[in-house]
Amino acid sequence: MLKGKKVLLGVTGSIAAYKSAFLIRLLVKAGAEVRVVMTPASRDFISPLTLATLSKHEVLTGLFENDSWANHVMLGRWADIMLIAPLSCNTLSDMANGKCNNLLLAVYLSATCEVAVAPAMDEDMWLHPSTQNNLKKISSFGNHIIPVEEGELASGLYGKGRMAAPEGIVNWINSFFSRKQTLLGKTVLVTAGPTYEAIDPVRFVGNRSSGKMGFAIAEELKKRGAKVILVSGPVNISSPSGIDMVFVQSAAEMYEACINVFASCDAAIMAAAVADYRVKTPATEKIKKKDESLVLHLEKTTDILQYLCSVKKPHQIVVGFALETNDEEANALKKLKAKHADYIILNSLGDSGAGFGTDTNKITIFDKQGGRFVFDLKSKQEVSVDIINTIFPDA
Ligand code: CTP
Repeated sequence: MLKGKKVLLGVTGSIAAYKSAFLIRLLVKAGAEVRVVMTPASRDFISPLTLATLSKHEVLTGLFENDSWANHVMLGRWADIMLIAPLSCNTLSDMANGKCNNLLLAVYLSATCEVAVAPAMDEDMWLHPSTQNNLKKISSFGNHIIPVEEGELASGLYGKGRMAAPEGIVNWINSFFSRKQTLLGKTVLVTAGPTYEAIDPVRFVGNRSSGKMGFAIAEELKKRGAKVILVSGPVNISSPSGIDMVFVQSAAEMYEACINVFASCDAAIMAAAVADYRVKTPATEKIKKKDESLVLHLEKTTDILQYLCSVKKPHQIVVGFALETNDEEANALKKLKAKHADYIILNSLGDSGAGFGTDTNKITIFDKQGGRFVFDLKSKQEVSVDIINTIFPDA
């Protein structure tokens, strides 16, 4: 499973750094290509020469090596996964706070690949609220935490905080990559972001959707091997690699883009906040300020979700969202029924941390068989994992 996988191993200053040597050996043996980035402090614990020899590549430590600039952006793009093992308390804190004072942190901040960490520290440090907060923070960024083990610690004490054994880390990476491929051969349409409905050439009616939820779903689908077509309204998120992007402005353009591809899709997840109404006759020239009031005549847009549900074939799964402010469950269930969707994902603006613009969400999924799945407040990345696990139980 690791054959040909590119693993960027970050090593930080911890007694457990000696285990990195075993880790590299196991990864290389499993067929992975390994490159190593070390923090300056980690060199007190294990020599770069050892890790360079085992990984068969030069080990990088500084932003400048041999008078040339180490390209941190390319390293994070080269890798399929950045694995920081061991992760010290200090580097964890730097990661949580966006510090960038060494190459490892620069690579971390610019990495577009998945990031997994294997923390290593003494039990009291592990249990300290600031450590636990930092872990929560980096997992809200979408980073994966490989659980620590209980056992004898460097302090001589016994307890929690020991870095997972190299074999355990390799198993974790193996199952991480195998999870990825479960949607191979499937094509999924995802919509994201708001739509803008023109009033005149410079103004529009829009909404506050950031697109983060739809983009996170698209990323998770891609990780599991699906071909993803992401139809997005105007958002401030850079385009992810490996996803077919279709950018649209209005509800009508989003409708066109969706019907163009839906027949070839196995599923559609409609996370966009599509305008329900558009301006009936947008002005062709900028409207000048004249009267005390201005009346805009709005007309209904086509409900894309409802339309796709009306034409879907039995093998196709269509999933809608319901963003509600009141009578949440009743409204979500009404939408499930009225639109004939397979699933409706409810998020309530009443839950703090859920809804537009945030990095977190709290959802309840309803299915047409009467199933109801309630989830805690989580990062939008983790929420997408829950959504995909629910819709594709075998993935
Ligand atoms: N939706 C759509 N096309 C529209 C409006 C909504 O595809 N023209 C989809 C959204 O992408 C979402 C679901 O329908 O998946 C529910 O959107 P929402 O705005 O919550 O529901 P509406 O049906 O528009 O109802 P209301 O605004 O009255 O709550």
